[in-house]
Order: sequence, then C-alpha cells, then structure tokens
Amino acid sequence: MKKLLLIFIFATFCFSNELNTYLNSLKQEAKTKNSNFKEFSVKRGEEIFTSKHIGKKGKEIACTSCHGIDLTKKNENYFTAKEIEPLSKKVNPTRLTDVKKVKKWLRRNFKDVYNRVGTAQEKGDVLVYILSK
Ligand code: HEC
Repeated sequence: MKKLLLIFIFATFCFSNELNTYLNSLKQEAKTKNSNFKEFSVKRGEEIFTSKHIGKKGKEIACTSCHGIDLTKKNENYFTAKEIEPLSKKVNPTRLTDVKKVKKWLRRNFKDVYNRVGTAQEKGDVLVYILSK
C-alpha cells in the first residue's frame, strides 16, 4: 500500500513537472515572437476562454460553450451534447497533467473556436487561466 502511494506521489510530481516544462517552452517561444512579452496573464486567458468567435461550422462559440463558465462544474459539449468533466484541478486533479493530451486538445479546441491554432502566448495565457480556477 505504502509503495503504491509513493508511486502515485512520484507520478503526480512528474506530471506536474511536465506541465511546467511545457509552460516554460511556451514562454520561450512567446518571447522570441514578442520582445515585450514578460509573463502569461490570467486576465488575457479569461478573455481567450470566454469571448465568442465564429468557429467550427460557422457557429459563434467560445471555450465556455463546451466547458461552461464555472470550471468546477460539468458541462455539455456544444456540438454533441456529451458530458464534459470539469476542467478545474480543484475538483478534477488529473486535469492538465498529461501534456500530450493538453497539446492535442488545445490544438483541436482553438480550431473549434478560432478557426486556427493558438499562438504560444495564447496557449500559455489560457492554461494559467484554467490553472487559476
Ligand atoms: C466543441 C467543444 C469544445 C470547445 C469549444 C472547447 N473544448 Fe476543450 N475539450 C473538449 C473536449 C471534448 C475535451 C476532451 C474531453 C475531456 O478531457 O473531458 C476537451 C479538453 C480540453 C483540455 C484538456 C484538459 C486536460 O484533461 O488536461 C483543455 C486544456 C481544453 N479542452 C481547453 C479548451 C480551450 C482553451 C478552449 C477554447 C479555445 C476549449 N477547450 C474549447 C471540448 C471543447
């Protein structure tokens, strides 16, 4: 049992480090694109997450159309009506731990809402916003 717990703690630690490494690489990329860039911003992230745009299938949607405005609550997928578990790590600790998954969904979801992929700065901003919830 103790062994299992240790493995669990180790895995959690590694995964959270993985996200930090990803955020740092986004930061480096953002700096090379914009010399004025200092830090990711929860406020800019909120704007990215909550504002509506003409996205997939010409529908005016936001990230909140699928994830809801309260990230500690479940919500429904705008297109498929399938349930989506909360994005907040407070109620769903495995969120934002698997960087491969994070990258895949950011790529897909930016296309859904913005009809393009996100920039490094936008991805960092929206991730710190989700982490703040
Ligand atoms: C059309 C519906 C839809 C929209 C719009 C949408 N998402 Fe998602 N998102 C999903 C689904 C489905 C998943 C994968 C299933 C899951 O993890 O619950 C997901 C997963 C994610 C994840 C992975 C979380 C993890 O488990 O680590 C992140 C991050 C994310 N979305 C961010 C965003 C952001 C930022 C936007 C706006 C640019 C956005 N989403 C817009 C449906 C959507």
